[in-house]
Amino acid sequence: VTSQFLHIFSLTFFTVITSSLSQSNQLLVKGGTVVNAHHQQIADVYVEDGVIVSVNPNIKVGDDVTVIDALGKYVMPGGIDPHTHLEFDVGFTATVDDFFSGQAAALAGGTTMHIDFVIPLNGSLIAGFEDYEKKAKKSCMDYGFHMVITKWDENVSREMELMVKEKGINSFKFFMAYKGILMINDELLLEGFKKCKSLGALAMVHAENGDAVYEGQEKMIELGITGPEGHALSRPPVVEGEATSRAIRLADFVNTPLYVVHVMSIDAMEEIAKARKSGQKVIGEPIASGLALDESWLWHPDFDIAAKYVMSPPIRKRGHDRALQAALSTGVLQLVGTDHCAFNSTQKARGIDDFRKIPNGVNGIEERMHLVWDIMVESGQITPSDYVRLTSTECARIFNIYPKKGAILPGSDADIIILNPNSSFEISAKSHHSRLDTNVYEGRRGKGKIEVTIAGGRVVWENDKLKLSPGTGRYIQMPPFSYLFDGLDKKDAIYLNSLQAPVKRAKTSS
Ligand code: URP
Ligand code: ZN
Ligand code: ZN
Ligand code: ZN
Repeated sequence: VTSQFLHIFSLTFFTVITSSLSQSNQLLVKGGTVVNAHHQQIADVYVEDGVIVSVNPNIKVGDDVTVIDALGKYVMPGGIDPHTHLEFDVGFTATVDDFFSGQAAALAGGTTMHIDFVIPLNGSLIAGFEDYEKKAKKSCMDYGFHMVITKWDENVSREMELMVKEKGINSFKFFMAYKGILMINDELLLEGFKKCKSLGALAMVHAENGDAVYEGQEKMIELGITGPEGHALSRPPVVEGEATSRAIRLADFVNTPLYVVHVMSIDAMEEIAKARKSGQKVIGEPIASGLALDESWLWHPDFDIAAKYVMSPPIRKRGHDRALQAALSTGVLQLVGTDHCAFNSTQKARGIDDFRKIPNGVNGIEERMHLVWDIMVESGQITPSDYVRLTSTECARIFNIYPKKGAILPGSDADIIILNPNSSFEISAKSHHSRLDTNVYEGRRGKGKIEVTIAGGRVVWENDKLKLSPGTGRYIQMPPFSYLFDGLDKKDAIYLNSLQAPVKRAKTSS
């Protein structure tokens, strides 16, 4: 099956609306259980011009207001995916989902905002930002940007400042892996952390030891292990644990908060747990694939199937998934992303003779909200309020856009989902909205179904149909100095003070 065919086929699932007047700008979501991270209650939610106006039992409205019945269902803030790669150009190819198809998929799965990673262009952060601004023009839902730092010099340092002060970026990702391409050494990591701290921007790390990964890959090739299983074998959990520990300690040394993206192993999670226990501000982001899958797929005899599970850090052995779930339920890890980075089977086939050439990445932007509900709430590990916190609120707080996002409160953006806990979902490449010809969750079923998605006050997903308006998605500026920076200056002052206690030494005569 060609991906082109699926692309056309998937068009039949949604209508594109060109006029914004075709929908009432007043909405009432009636009788549902409204869930916020702090509280839940049975109430109506009244929306006007894209903003929530009131949340109260029995709101009365006129005939011109569209009423959506939510009786017996959960009314929750739309998901915010903190980690996506739409239209990501990796040099030899680009991800198949762009800012339209990726967002269509997101909306069909109850996610109403995502934060994507801007890659610098020819070493320039500004050029990279402008490139992504163009890519995002077709957006049909709100989005924000992180910025990737791939090298260090005066110019990068200056451009980081500009990004924070003028472009609404408050987070920078450093790659400790992908040797020779994106990887930076400890010296640059320290420079970057210091700059982040001074700007009030959050430092993020892809934590794998890139030198060890390189060594592991050479070893696998020498042993003749060239298939997708070589991907897992070449970069085991210890390599992720080491880099996570190193990044955490360097962030502690600089006294700046740290966000560890795609936490995939017990090894990395335990480093985060240890640091948090000691009072350090460290955030850990597991992703849907790490919670829902295990590495056995990489040993599948069909290359096409095995290759679709290749991502970094790798999906781990069974046991890591359960441990990451438990860490989420106890607060050791704080939010769930996807790392949605979609390469189709033709693109993945580039590495048919050498796992090192398989483009890295799995899907998830459409599946995350359903999977987390099924895996975490239906199993009894967390409450609906916890679910809201892990999929939306905490992300909004970390990236400093709460309560505009991440809450159902008067004044918040009208990004709302209605989930029916008595219905069920089923995942398949035949019915998903991504342009991918595959899905790592193919055939998976679970409890709970997102029946309605409202984004910016528009009903964009209802009765299994999307109604999208390209260009209506807005860029959400994220201001620096989130709550993670509170008290940092006091800690710094105490430290500086402690240095000034004079050491009295006896004078020697020589
Ligand atoms: O395999 C992955 N994770 N691909 C996307 C890039 C990244 O490292 O996040
Ligand atoms: Zn399509
Ligand atoms: Zn990464
Ligand atoms: Zn990523």
